[in-house]
Amino acid sequence: MLTVRAPATSANLGSGFDVFGIALGTPADVIRVERAPETTITVTGAGSEYIPEDPAKNTVGAVAEALDAPARIRIDKGVRPSSGLGSSAASAAAAAVALNALYDRGCSREELVPIAAEGEALVSGEAHADNVAPALLGGFTVVTDDGVTQVDASVPVVACLPDITVSTRDARGVVPDSASLADVVDTVGNAATLTVGMTQDDPDLVGRGMLDDIVTPERTKLIDGYDRVREAALEAGATGVTVSGAGPGVLAVCHHQNQRAIAAAMVDAFDAVGVESRAYQTVVGEGARLYR
Ligand code: HSE
Repeated sequence: MLTVRAPATSANLGSGFDVFGIALGTPADVIRVERAPETTITVTGAGSEYIPEDPAKNTVGAVAEALDAPARIRIDKGVRPSSGLGSSAASAAAAAVALNALYDRGCSREELVPIAAEGEALVSGEAHADNVAPALLGGFTVVTDDGVTQVDASVPVVACLPDITVSTRDARGVVPDSASLADVVDTVGNAATLTVGMTQDDPDLVGRGMLDDIVTPERTKLIDGYDRVREAALEAGATGVTVSGAGPGVLAVCHHQNQRAIAAAMVDAFDAVGVESRAYQTVVGEGARLYR
């Protein structure tokens, strides 16, 4: 039996829609696999009641199919579905690493990215690699049609998860079809600033580079209390705040010394609009880890 832990991730980071992603130190999914004549899946943990165990309908089943690696697969969810924290990507990445090792397929982590992304497509409708790439490789990742670029990073973050759901399909439905040149120029500048910030582990540059006036404003309308939570986090010292992935998770970047106050401020702000939430105080961290 093999065990793999794969982390939650946060995609987009504001200015890097469908391009940027980070691995989070916590929460994470844990998957256990054993060879079997045909694939079976059991799911426990956070939000497991919403996840189909039929391999034909589960991201992990799609990964097993793609690797021709039938297995008895047990998924313990630490990353709740429809959270904006890369729930399906965590499972897909964990399965890809586990089954690749179980059947000695010999794929590199980079080669597993498109395989895990196909698994994710089963639930989101489109194959985005911006969550599976950091779940597999760790750190900060940049995904384009030409492949993945990765750098290690350890910027402190708070990922606040409200007790509401936003489906990725709905969140993609509000993305504008076009943008003005001025907004595109601003966003490119911000994305470049953020990238430099990640390479230097500089929360001020990363926070400044998260600004985005194209996609994020439309998505914040789907999250009850977002503006209040963002303001509260900034007042408590966050260097930048944005929607995590497709939402409803909200991501704040910060210096270590402000992390606890930011987490409390975000939870309080959600509470003030009648929404319960949980804040993960963590750092940009490692990708999927295999335990033999
Ligand atoms: N980049 C994707 C989005 C991530 O924001 O829609 C969620 O799959």
